[in-house]
Amino acid sequence: MAKKSILDFQKMKTEGEKITWLTAYDYPTAQFEERAGIDMILVGDSLGMCVYGYSGTVPVTMDQCIVHTEAVRRGAPNTFVVGDMPFLSYQTTPADAVRNAGRFYKEAGVDAIKLEGGRRVTKVIEAIVNSGMVVCGHIGLTPQSTGQLGGYKAQGRTAQSALELIEDARAVQKAGASFLLLEAVTPEVGKFITEDLEIPVYSIGAGPYCDGQILIVSDILGIWEAFTPKFVKKYAHMAEESVKAIQDYIRDVREGKFPADEHCYKMVAGEAEKLKELLKQE
Ligand code: KIV
Repeated sequence: MAKKSILDFQKMKTEGEKITWLTAYDYPTAQFEERAGIDMILVGDSLGMCVYGYSGTVPVTMDQCIVHTEAVRRGAPNTFVVGDMPFLSYQTTPADAVRNAGRFYKEAGVDAIKLEGGRRVTKVIEAIVNSGMVVCGHIGLTPQSTGQLGGYKAQGRTAQSALELIEDARAVQKAGASFLLLEAVTPEVGKFITEDLEIPVYSIGAGPYCDGQILIVSDILGIWEAFTPKFVKKYAHMAEESVKAIQDYIRDVREGKFPADEHCYKMVAGEAEKLKELLKQE
């Protein structure tokens, strides 16, 4: 399948065809997603929690993001891959932001980068877009600033806060972003922003009316168990499956059932006997 571009996603929005997006952090998962036919992959800074066991995304570094994005790119060469700008890789100055966005392009071969924030990051979005890169905005529950939001809380639940989100969405589009991700907002707000903007709008917990949906792969596969947000649907229970497989392996080794004959290398025919003879002569 040919890799989709921003033009394809724009067309899908116009034609009402839903766009599918998932996170991935490593080579095999990226392979599975490409094989399954996903439209886009985000190498999210959620890797801080899902891969490194941090309590949030704030500690994640550029170097960690680059290493994981390179692996995903290798696993999914024909899928639109988005790199996620970690905390303080773009909030300092537009020049820092361009340099760090450029690293995702030059070192990891991404098709776009994502960053969090609305009106307060428009200068940064403009600078990255003016350097020839594709930007995805991210508003609503923005995990890098949960301290200011008072925790992982749904956004846009009052008319005033919904209005603020609408202003942010419009500002992100005006600054030149090609996509917008809405996280943990009510379906009413998701619907309004999706219809209001020309660019594709994606939902993670923003209801069914957005142009596309994204979830965290560790959530849908049942790998991440620390907590499950309301908007997650689990399609597999890999943590349980994995523990069971490891328990079966431990039991087999302890009981001498592993390795069996089919797991052992064979000597060339006649060589075992020759070896016995050689050993006798010693
Ligand atoms: O880092 C991430 O995985 C995200 C999700 C909210 C999609 O930004």
